[in-house]
Amino acid sequence: MIGFDKWNQLIFFLLPTIFNIKLTKEWNAPKPRHLRLLKSALQRETVNAHQSDLWIPLANQGWRPCVGSTESPLLPEKPQGYIQVFLDGGLNQQRMGICDAVAVAKILNATLVIPYLEVNPVWQDSSSFMDIFDVDHFIDILKDDISIVKELPYEFSWSTREYYATAIRATRIKSAPVHASANWYLENVLPVLQSDGIAAISPFSHRLAFDNLPIDIQRLRCKVNFQALVFVPHIRALGDALVSRLRYGSGSRGALDTNYLQESTERAGKFAVLHLRFDKDMAAHSACDFGGGKAEKLALAKYRQALWQGRVLNSQFTDEELRTQGRCPLTPEEIGLLLAALGFDNSTRLYLASHKVYGGEARISTLRTLFPLMEDKKSLASSVERAKSKGKASLLAAVDYYVSMHSDIFISASPGNMHNALVGHRTYENLKTIRPNMALLGQIFLNKSISWSDFRQAVIEGHQHRRGQIRLRKPKQSLYTYPAPDCMCHG
Ligand SMILES: *[C@@H]1O[C@H](CO)[C@@H](O)[C@H](O)[C@H]1NC(C)=O
Ligand SMILES: *[C@@H]1O[C@H](CO)[C@@H](O)[C@H](O)[C@H]1NC(C)=O
Ligand SMILES: *[C@@H]1O[C@H](CO)[C@@H](O)[C@H](O)[C@H]1NC(C)=O
Repeated sequence: MIGFDKWNQLIFFLLPTIFNIKLTKEWNAPKPRHLRLLKSALQRETVNAHQSDLWIPLANQGWRPCVGSTESPLLPEKPQGYIQVFLDGGLNQQRMGICDAVAVAKILNATLVIPYLEVNPVWQDSSSFMDIFDVDHFIDILKDDISIVKELPYEFSWSTREYYATAIRATRIKSAPVHASANWYLENVLPVLQSDGIAAISPFSHRLAFDNLPIDIQRLRCKVNFQALVFVPHIRALGDALVSRLRYGSGSRGALDTNYLQESTERAGKFAVLHLRFDKDMAAHSACDFGGGKAEKLALAKYRQALWQGRVLNSQFTDEELRTQGRCPLTPEEIGLLLAALGFDNSTRLYLASHKVYGGEARISTLRTLFPLMEDKKSLASSVERAKSKGKASLLAAVDYYVSMHSDIFISASPGNMHNALVGHRTYENLKTIRPNMALLGQIFLNKSISWSDFRQAVIEGHQHRRGQIRLRKPKQSLYTYPAPDCMCHG
């Protein structure tokens, strides 16, 4: 009675949450919503590695990284002044802003000042560019493309974030439209550079178009994203330690070593990363029902009202309509079922790349029951190792990004900037990435009588072409998410 055992364990996992809820009243213990599927998933067979191509790396698809400039125009003899940008958003939005800033400086023949990273109101991390990225590597890799300075020379040292925050200033460019063209910068920013010697562009997120730019500029953006931006040594060292523990054992739970020995060669030392963003912000914004009952619904509606004053489009739809449209974030339980259906068995080493999960461990426990060898930064690294990044959302996100890039399979269950950045970066390196089919999953989870075998078949069929196959960028799409053909060459 293997299944029965697991079942008891699951109920046991959920018990503490019931008590918790009584105290906090935020929501009721989120009970599993797909009990029948869950029961079957817990009894699933261990997949014979020989029968599954799940862990086999992607075959060569005929595309390779290609970021060198086509004719390598030389640095301008006389730079046109200094470009400063102030970047908001989380780490991955800032990353795109950095790439765009290099491109804009190149378009204007200006010298770029190392971008200033704003403190995000949600993430609250004041880490600077140099705290996160290896700044000397950044400057060195781009030295033949543009000139970059860490700080403004003394004559311009007045041009600070505080200076622009306190009054209207002639050198502040405030009006860059979303996805502005190269010409927009030449017409609106170049004159400021020529008259004042400096231009500070803010806001700057998403302020450079993806279409109608010279191929050299596109390639330069790729070069920044995929070559120039590497994390500082202590992030890479922590990332390497985590990757090695995932591959070769000694996770905090001590379970890895014995399992490792029993493994067949195809699977030996392999691990998958699951990126899961399921925070209160996202849960509230989606306006979906996540099974936490009336208390949760109320709490999320209240949060929605406070933050967006009813301006949330989704709240006009019923939960069923939203699910059919694939507009509800998958819950950890649903992600667990998805992974189980795809053939990940209970000996899968799964790294959870996640910041804060709304509902905490109670919400994750179902997923953990399906994947007992699930690890994360906390379970794999000591508090001493984590001290430098403790409480710093951007540094923690950087560690997750690094581990994600080194995984054999990456699954992102949460659309957003981190998802886009990693999907793009892994495409660039031809690494396996599973992109959940949200609309399909939304629909099949609505069928409360679906059998495990029908569920599994629908999931497998619906993800046949979502495992890292190259998709060419379409007009208006981001080259950071779809690096082919701009950053890659065919053949
Ligand atoms: C995995 O599942 C198999 C069969 O369903 C079971 O025998 C085994 O104990 C499970 N392993 C873990 C680590 O839960
Ligand atoms: C930038 O420099 C290049 C090469 O020196 C030149 O062709 C181009 O016109 C310059 N652009 C601007 C905006 O100064
Ligand atoms: C729901 O699942 C059952 C059992 O797997 C299946 O027979 C039925 O066709 C499904 N219903 C819909 C609407 O897809």
